[in-house]
Amino acid sequence: MTWHAHAIWQALLGGPGCPLLPSGPTSYLGNLKGKVAAQNALLIPGDERARELHPILGEDAALMEAAAVLHDVGYSPLIASTGFHPLDGARFLRDQEGLDERVVRLVAHHSYALLEAEERGLREEMESEFEVERPALVDALVFCDMTTTPDGGHTTSGERVDEIVGWYGPDTIAGRFIQRAAPEIHGAVQRVQGGLGAVQESAQPM
Ligand SMILES: [Fe+2]
Repeated sequence: MTWHAHAIWQALLGGPGCPLLPSGPTSYLGNLKGKVAAQNALLIPGDERARELHPILGEDAALMEAAAVLHDVGYSPLIASTGFHPLDGARFLRDQEGLDERVVRLVAHHSYALLEAEERGLREEMESEFEVERPALVDALVFCDMTTTPDGGHTTSGERVDEIVGWYGPDTIAGRFIQRAAPEIHGAVQRVQGGLGAVQESAQPM
C-alpha cells in the first residue's frame, strides 16, 4: 500500500509541471507565505514520522505511512473542487483502487479537519461522507502532521500551531480553526509520545 500511496502522491503533487512546484501558479493558496509553506510541506509528505510509530501501531504502521504521504493531496489543483483540501483529497482517494478505506477516512479527518469544515459550512457533508477512524490512528496522523516542519524536520505541536497561525493570521478560517483545534492536537501528540515512551520503557532490561 505504501508504494501505491507514493505513486498517487507523485502523480498529483510531485511530478514535472506540478502546479505546486516553485514556478507554478499558486493563486489558490492566496498569499506568498501560504504558497511557500504549502510547497515545502507538500514536497515532503512526512512519512518518515509515520515509520517511527511502528512500535505502537504494529501492523497498522504501513497504513499510517500511506495516510501520512497522502493526507494533503487535496491541495493539488488537479483534484481540488471545494478548496477544502481534506475533503477534496478524501473524495479523490475513495475512488482509487486498492487503497484501504481507513486511509481515506484518515485523510478526510486529518488533524481535526472537522473543525475547519465547520468554519467552512462543510461539516455535515464531511460527516455524512466519511466516518472518523479509531482514536489511536487519528492521534497517530495528528502526530505525523503536526510535529513535522515544512522542510521535513521535527518540531513540537506548539511551535507548529504558532507557525500556522502566523502564516494565515489569527482571524482567518485556517487561523481560527487551528486555534480551536490546538488543545485536541496537543492532546493527541502527548498520547502518542506517551505510548512511544511506554514501549521504550518496557523494552529496557530490568
Ligand atoms: Fe492538511
